[in-house]
Amino acid sequence: MNANKDRLARRIAELSAIGGHGDAVTRLGLTLAEAQAQELVASWLRARGAAIRTDEARNVYGRFGGPGPAVLVGSHLDSVPEGGRYDGALGVLCAVEAVDTILDAGRTLRRPLEVVGWCDEEGARFGIGLFGSTAAFGRLPAKAAERRDRDGISIADALRALGASGDPERARYTDPLSAYLELHIEQGPRLETRGIPLGVVSDIVGIFHGLVRVTGRADHAGATVMGARKDALAGAAEMALGLERIASAMIDAVGTVGEIAVRPGAKNVVPGQCTFSIDVRAPDQERVDAVLRAFRVEARRICDARGLTFLVDQLASVPPVPMDAKLTDLFLRSAKAVGVDAPLLVSGAGHDTSNPALGGVPSGMLFVRSTGGSHTPTEHASVEDATLGATVLAIALAELCG
Ligand code: HGY
Ligand code: MN
Ligand code: MN
Repeated sequence: MNANKDRLARRIAELSAIGGHGDAVTRLGLTLAEAQAQELVASWLRARGAAIRTDEARNVYGRFGGPGPAVLVGSHLDSVPEGGRYDGALGVLCAVEAVDTILDAGRTLRRPLEVVGWCDEEGARFGIGLFGSTAAFGRLPAKAAERRDRDGISIADALRALGASGDPERARYTDPLSAYLELHIEQGPRLETRGIPLGVVSDIVGIFHGLVRVTGRADHAGATVMGARKDALAGAAEMALGLERIASAMIDAVGTVGEIAVRPGAKNVVPGQCTFSIDVRAPDQERVDAVLRAFRVEARRICDARGLTFLVDQLASVPPVPMDAKLTDLFLRSAKAVGVDAPLLVSGAGHDTSNPALGGVPSGMLFVRSTGGSHTPTEHASVEDATLGATVLAIALAELCG
C-alpha cells in the first residue's frame, strides 16, 4: 500500500486555505473556521462511506464499520494565532489519507476504524489546551465552560454558536476503544538534524498551564515617586525572568510566559494588575512540580519586596504519559517496512494523545520530520515525508483493523 502524494498535497493546500493568510494559518478553536475545516474533512470521509458525528465539545468523528471496540486515529484541526499549516492538521490529513489508502487497496476492515478531528487542542482562545480530547475523556477542570476569551465570550457561548448544547461535559467518548493513534509533525529539529523522515514517540512530557494574577496598585505615572509604587507589571516581569532562570536550571524542563495582560493598560498609569500565562513542562511530574514550587517561592519573595499579591489560576495539568509498548513497536515495524529506521523520541510538545492514554486506551504516536520551527508560519513538512507518514499509518491501521 502506498499513500497518494498528489491527493495529500491537494488536501494540505485545501485545508490550509481555511484560516490561511500568506504562509500563516489562524484557525482558533471553537470558531467558524475550525468548523469549516471539520466539515471539509467530514466531506472526504463521508465520500468513502463513513458515518459522521460531532460531539458536545465540537469534536468531529468519521466512523467506518459497525459497533465494537474501534481504533481511533486523528489529531486536531485548530491552530495557534499566526500558526503553521501542519501542526495538528497534518495528523488529520494523514489519517484520512491512510484510510483512503487502505480502501483503495481493497482491504476490508475487520474492526471499526474511526477518524477524529479534535477541537481546540491549542487552547489559544479560552486557555484550556487539549480541550476537545480532554472533554471526550472526562478530564475537564471544574466550570471549564465558563472560561471566557478576551472578548468575554465563554466556551459555552462559543459551543452554542456552533450548534452544540454548551455543556462540554456531555462530550464523553463512551464507546470501547482498542487503540488510539496520532501522526504529528515533530515540531523540533531532531529528525531534521539526523536526516530521518519519521520518528516514533516513546513518551509525552508532563505539562502545567496556569494564569498568574499579580495585584498592585494603579497610580499616576507622573505624580507617584518610584519608591511609593506597587507596580504589578514590574513585579510580573521579575517573575517571568525568575521562571526562565528556574526552568533553565532544571535538566530537560522548560518554562514559558507566552501571554501577558496589564490593567488598566495606559502609558501614564502605573499598572495595578498584571496577568500572565505560565507553561511548565518536564519529562516527569517531579520536575514539573519542582519548577512550580520554586516559582511560587520566588513569586512570594518578589511580591513581599514590592508590596504586591499574586495567585496562580490553574488551567490544566497533564501528567507525563508513556506510549503503549505494542503500538510503539507496531510503528517501528511499519516504518521499517518502508525502509525507515525511525528513532524513539520524547515529545516536548503536548498532544491530544495524552488524553486517551490517561483514559487507559493503548495509544501511540508517529512523528513526521518538520523544519522551520513550529507555531509559526515557517513550520514546514515536505509532502514526500507526509506521504511516507501516511503510508506507515496505513500499514499500522491495516494491521490493527485489517
Ligand atoms: O503546546 C503544545 O505543546 C501543543 O502544540 N498544543
Ligand atoms: Mn500546537
Ligand atoms: Mn499539535
